[in-house]
Amino acid sequence: MTRSAAYSNILGRLSHQSVVKHFDAYADVPWDHPDYRIDATDARWELDENDVLGGTEWYRTQPREIRSRLGLHGIVTQMKLGVEFEAILSQGLLQFATSLPNGAPEFRYAYHEAIEEGQHSLMFQEFINRSGLEVRGMGGVDAWFSRRVPSIARSFPELFFLFVLGGESPIDYVQREELRKRDALHPLLRRVMQIHVTEEARHLCFAKNYLLENVPKLGRIRRFQLRFRTPIIFAAMAKQMLEPPKALIREYGIPSSVVREAYTENPVHRQRTLDGLASVRKLCFQLGLVQPRWWRMLGILPEGEGDARDAFDDESGVRRLGPPRPTSVPTSSRRLPGVVRACPRSWVQPLSA
Ligand SMILES: [Fe+2]
Ligand SMILES: [Fe+2]
Repeated sequence: MTRSAAYSNILGRLSHQSVVKHFDAYADVPWDHPDYRIDATDARWELDENDVLGGTEWYRTQPREIRSRLGLHGIVTQMKLGVEFEAILSQGLLQFATSLPNGAPEFRYAYHEAIEEGQHSLMFQEFINRSGLEVRGMGGVDAWFSRRVPSIARSFPELFFLFVLGGESPIDYVQREELRKRDALHPLLRRVMQIHVTEEARHLCFAKNYLLENVPKLGRIRRFQLRFRTPIIFAAMAKQMLEPPKALIREYGIPSSVVREAYTENPVHRQRTLDGLASVRKLCFQLGLVQPRWWRMLGILPEGEGDARDAFDDESGVRRLGPPRPTSVPTSSRRLPGVVRACPRSWVQPLSA
C-alpha cells in the first residue's frame, strides 16, 4: 500500500503523541479524594437552563433532589453508552490491525488507540459504579447492529472509520462545550472529560486522515455504498448520543410533550445535532460523499448547505469546485492540504522538527 508523505508523517506524530501524552484511568484520576466523591443530590449535577431539557418548565419545577439525580443519571447513561461504543470500536480496531501487512504503521496506531479506549472505558465504568445509579446498556436492534460492526473494520475499513466518526464527533462536541461553558462542573466529571477529549482528538485525527488517504482510492461501487450508508449511520449515532434513552424517560416520568419540546421539535436541539456533526459533514463534502437531498431527508444537513456548488463528479469522486464558501477555518490553515487540516497544527510538523 502506498501512502502520501503527509499521511505517513501524521501517523508517526499520532503514535508518538500516544507515547508521550497518555492517561491511566486510576493513576491520573484521584477517585478517593473527598472533593471527587459522587453524591446524587449534589446541585452541580443539575442541568442548567441552557440545556435543552434543563430549560423546560417541567424540569425546573421538579424537586431539587430529582433535578440533580436526573442530571447525574443522564451523564451516567451516556458513559454506559460510551463503554459499549468503545468496546465495539476496540474490537473493530483489533480486527483492522490484523488485516494489515507487516510493517504497516496503522498497526501500531490502532493498538495505541485500542489501549486508550480501554482506559476510557475503565474511567467511565468506575464513574458509573461510584454513582450508585442503575443503568442498562444497549438492547434490541441497536445491540444486534453493533455486534456486526467490528467485522466491517476488516472488510470495509472506510465504512468502519466513518462509523467511528459518527459516534465520536457528537460526544466530543458536547464534552468540549461543557468544559468551555460550565464553570460549576463537578471536579471528577471535569477530569474525566478533560482526559477523554485530549485523547479523542487523536482518534478523530486518525480516522479523518485515514479516510482522506483511502476513500479517493476506492472504486465506484464502494463509493456509492459510502454515500448511501454514511448519513444513515450519522443520523442514528447522533440521535443515540444526544437524546435520552427510553429507560431514562420512563424512570423519571418525563411527559412525551416535554420530550418533543426539548428534543424532537426543538430547533435548538436540531442545531446542536448539526453542530455536533459539522466537522464530519465537512470531511464528507471533501470526500465527495454528500448527496444533499439524502442528507437533508435524514435531517443532518443545514438548509442552504449542499447546493449545486457542492456537487461531485460520480466518476472520479473529485469535488467540482464552485465559488468559495465562507468558512470558519483560519486563513492560514486553509493553505494546508486537506489531509493536514484535520489535525492540530503542532502535530503536522515533521517528526524531526
Ligand atoms: Fe474514548
Ligand atoms: Fe476514541
